[in-house]
Amino acid sequence: MLTKKRKMVVTSALPYANGDIHIGHLVEYVQTDFWVRFQKMRGHECVYVCADDTHGTPVMLRARAEGITPEELIARSYALHTRDFSDFEVHFDNYYSTNSEENRTFSNGIYKAMQKSGAVTTRNLPQLYCEHDAMFLPDRFVKGVCPKCGAEGQYGDSCDVCGQTYAAEELKDARCAICGQPPVTRDSEHLFFELEPFRNYLKTWIPAHTAPDVANKLLEWFNEPLRGWCISRDAPYFGFEIPGHPNKFFYVWVDAPIGYMASLKKWCMDHSESFDTWWQNPEAELYHFIGKDIVRFHCLFWPAMLHTADYKTPSQVFVHGFLTVNGEKMSKSKGTFIKARTYLDYLNPQDLRFYYACKLNGSTDDMDLNLGDFVNRVNSDLVGKITNLASRGAQMLQKSLGGMTGTMDPEGRALCAKAQDWAQSIAAHYEARDFSKVMVEVRDLADQANQYFDSKAPWALVKSDPEAARSVMTSVLNIFRVLAIYMQPVLPSYAAKVARLFNETTYVWSDVKKIIENAPVKPYEYLATRVEQASVDKLIEASRAVEPPAAKPAPAKAPEPVKTAVEPVKEMIDYDTFAKADMRVATVLSAELVEGADKLLKIQLDIGEARPRQVFAGIRKAYDPATLVGRQVVMVANLAPRKMRFGMSEGMILAAGNPDGALFVVSPDAGAVPGATVK
Ligand code: MSP
Ligand code: ZN
Repeated sequence: MLTKKRKMVVTSALPYANGDIHIGHLVEYVQTDFWVRFQKMRGHECVYVCADDTHGTPVMLRARAEGITPEELIARSYALHTRDFSDFEVHFDNYYSTNSEENRTFSNGIYKAMQKSGAVTTRNLPQLYCEHDAMFLPDRFVKGVCPKCGAEGQYGDSCDVCGQTYAAEELKDARCAICGQPPVTRDSEHLFFELEPFRNYLKTWIPAHTAPDVANKLLEWFNEPLRGWCISRDAPYFGFEIPGHPNKFFYVWVDAPIGYMASLKKWCMDHSESFDTWWQNPEAELYHFIGKDIVRFHCLFWPAMLHTADYKTPSQVFVHGFLTVNGEKMSKSKGTFIKARTYLDYLNPQDLRFYYACKLNGSTDDMDLNLGDFVNRVNSDLVGKITNLASRGAQMLQKSLGGMTGTMDPEGRALCAKAQDWAQSIAAHYEARDFSKVMVEVRDLADQANQYFDSKAPWALVKSDPEAARSVMTSVLNIFRVLAIYMQPVLPSYAAKVARLFNETTYVWSDVKKIIENAPVKPYEYLATRVEQASVDKLIEASRAVEPPAAKPAPAKAPEPVKTAVEPVKEMIDYDTFAKADMRVATVLSAELVEGADKLLKIQLDIGEARPRQVFAGIRKAYDPATLVGRQVVMVANLAPRKMRFGMSEGMILAAGNPDGALFVVSPDAGAVPGATVK
């Protein structure tokens, strides 16, 4: 069956070090992991590398705001990211950092080659500069009024309201998102990587290495001259300094993809392999899995950079769409912006892998995680149809028949042969990254096996004709074993338990051909359990609540004034807008814990009206409820009531939030009466 052993390097995009891994990211890492595990099962030599993308302004500013060094920040992210990935069973052969010496060396080398080819030019560029913060402001650190539609609070690159893109200098009433001051325009000399010299090269490269819809979109840009790409950034910047240009740094997107090479290089050194056999070897294949938002970097700049430096370019760039939850963009207020870690606190990672496999089809279309459908599919398909074969078959065999398989009856044998015959077609679906078709075929075979099982009624047979029952169980277990092998790339630890059941070890693809007869079966270990809707509800609630940032060490050195670059300055409002908020003094009548919501307190408030007001406040971590009773607080009394799972919330309590997440409820001095207005 196996024709030729392939040598493959596979990558996922490098996640930014300044954020947590969320379930949107996982769409990518999990599908790459499916594919890599499949290739390895087929006997190919396949190396999966990735890294944290550590450089750039956001990392620098966040570290500054926390009073730590960028190196400390990226070390913390590295620990969190790798733990999330390993808990989701995403297995990298090497997970590295773009802030490595290998990456610096490759980056300098490629830059020199780009220069030598004459494609690097210098130009003066006017840019927004904040005199208060003494730095040039990246587009995402400028906010103002959209020059096209007048919407307020828009970033310096594009408007969320009208969708227009523009230059940051075009924003009206622009403000620095760090300090809120209006920036000035300053000139600075920058380096550009010109793309026009690569026009013909890219025009043929793109359609040969990307899917037709991706290629068509990219090629639209070729109707006009290709714009040069600005590859330098001014200090202060966390990154690699550009050789020969003191105080200028490579733009993060220059050294980020080079990070793929650096990670592979590190793997090669750790395994006494030569980098060139894996990257430069024309026989070796190279695949990048990326999301549709970063196509430009991977299919224009990246092949041009590699080409000019005489490195091999990727064999294919696989582009996937974005995750939506319940049909909408992930949303913090709806509780659907779900972090990998929060998911793990409430649900089983294997269920998400299973669900994503059912939905992923190798296309660029967005993919929806419908939470109701998620519960259904896991419970009815993974647990009810597939796993049920093993739990019923193996348990009965253990309980009544001494845990020994016999021989399959003709009908069972035929069904098992059919399951084995589908190996070719299932492998083809895996190869094409059409994981949804893999799961359809597995489910279809499971349906047939369940019908066979039910038609034989072995629970009755075991009393009248135990040997016939043993045959049925043997057939069902053999079919189940084949299905588990097919699912191993998606459910690796599940498949490992199945292998243990049959006294086997990690499966390779050709294990499908084996038959287990007249052999002992180990006691059944649980493989999958039902998902409860209540756990999903808790997950949503936990994702909605304001979360305290991770505990962090005290500032090592006198920090810059504390700023939260992540939370941009709010836009100006006029007095009338402010006056619309009806804020009142309130006395806490009672405060209690809320079962199933570990961030909330349920509070009854006297605001001088006949009826007390009930509020659910996310302050549980800061206050013992008993200490709040009798205390005066300030509440927003005309906030539209919100129906929560636990009851109505009829307003909000004001509390101060430190940048480190600590909370302090706001109280008036003694003497204010309940219901007094706050202005
Ligand atoms: N650091 C860059 C990639 C550099 S690669 C040389 C980056 N990082 S990211 O953290 O924003 O995204 C990492 C990957 O996750 C990207 O491929 C991105 O498309 C993907 N996704 C991030 N959010 C996603 C969804 N909501 N849905 C699907 N994929 C998503 O971009
Ligand atoms: Zn500023």
